[in-house]
Amino acid sequence: MTGEHVSERWAQWRRDIDLAEYHTRWTRLEVEGKATHGEADLIASYAPTSVLDAGCGMGRVAIELARRGFDVDGTDLDDDLLEYARYDAPHLAWIHGDLSTVSLPRKYALVAMPGNVMVFCRPQDRAPIVANLVAHMEPGAVLIAGFMLERRPEAITLAEYDAACAATGLSLADRFATWERAPYDDGNYAVSVHRND
Ligand SMILES: C[S@@+](CC[C@H](N)C(=O)[O-])C[C@H]1O[C@@H](n2cnc3c(N)ncnc32)[C@H](O)[C@@H]1O
Repeated sequence: MTGEHVSERWAQWRRDIDLAEYHTRWTRLEVEGKATHGEADLIASYAPTSVLDAGCGMGRVAIELARRGFDVDGTDLDDDLLEYARYDAPHLAWIHGDLSTVSLPRKYALVAMPGNVMVFCRPQDRAPIVANLVAHMEPGAVLIAGFMLERRPEAITLAEYDAACAATGLSLADRFATWERAPYDDGNYAVSVHRND
């Protein structure tokens, strides 16, 4: 996990969370049929021909998309989490890399950042991450990110995120309050859908 590109926020999460227990929790929900897949449902609704799960962690969303037949790759900075993804879905491509600099051999019809990636990356990496992800998007592709809007210094705002997207030529296509498409209501969580057309 270590490296100078890991944010203090993510390092703190790692100190607080036991990875094996966290993985077991998700697996148990899956086995009991209680897992919810709002992220995968919304991503699937765009019927993408290919998906990059950017900041995929243990591969929770990518694995569900693959189960539904989507062509999906995952990439993350934290190799400890990727190890779980590799164990659970060895048939998928799990690429260790920093979203702000990683260079992948293909482009995607949809790039998704579920799970607060924009909150857990370093603040100075947010705009470079958006720019690098856009470089991995096909013409007409969609970028979807869901993240908390917090009241703390350096917290990402929608204005900052939209500006980073606009700087790369993306335009806002949709914004929701939840992955289930509840209308955005100026609340403390947003799912943003940008398109490069
Ligand atoms: C809360 S986890 C979400 C994981 C996954 N998207 C999910 O929803 O289950 C946030 C993830 O962002 C990743 N991350 C943060 N900064 C990153 C960066 N610069 N490059 C790649 N991944 C990053 C972390 O390693 C972590 O796996």
